[in-house]
Amino acid sequence: MALINIIYTSIEGNTRAFISRLSAYAEQQHALNEDNPLITSKEISDQTLPGEEKSPFFVFVPTYLTGGNGIDSGFTEIMTNALGEYIESGDNAKYCVGVIGSGNRNFNEQYCLTARKYAKQFNAPFLADYELRGTSRDAEHIYAILRERWRKVNA
Ligand SMILES: Cc1cc2nc3c(=O)[nH]c(=O)nc-3n(C[C@H](O)[C@H](O)[C@H](O)COP(=O)(O)O)c2cc1C
Repeated sequence: MALINIIYTSIEGNTRAFISRLSAYAEQQHALNEDNPLITSKEISDQTLPGEEKSPFFVFVPTYLTGGNGIDSGFTEIMTNALGEYIESGDNAKYCVGVIGSGNRNFNEQYCLTARKYAKQFNAPFLADYELRGTSRDAEHIYAILRERWRKVNA
């Protein structure tokens, strides 16, 4: 099966660490059964040049917001905008097949809101969430979700 493509951004390193954990878990699973896909990932930052995606990908986005309360007043995405702009550019959004959010539950109603916003904006399902750097259980759970969705998308 084709490699699972992930596009992500990470301001403080938590998302990067989780993608690394997830990729290592995918390698273990692939070694047990080669039907389990490996993961390839690309980090987007303010320095990333616009690029054209030509195959399906998942988006991993942490949450950085200012203003609003997540319920009845507006909020503004900060720090992660380069990722949203990258997906928005050209036909990239067409290939987005799922969004995974991360954040911190201390932010209550604003927990993982950027991922929910991306899911609507790019017309892709919100597939899962995890806190901060995630746990091994999160990696197992999220890998299973990605693998299932990847099978359907590539069927
Ligand atoms: C300034 C700031 C604002 C944040 N705002 C939110 C928020 O609104 N909702 C949320 O769930 N997490 C929020 N977080 C938590 C981050 O999403 C969380 O720490 C995430 O793991 C960071 O990922 P990264 O290290 O890959 O950048 C915020 C963190 C910071 C530093």
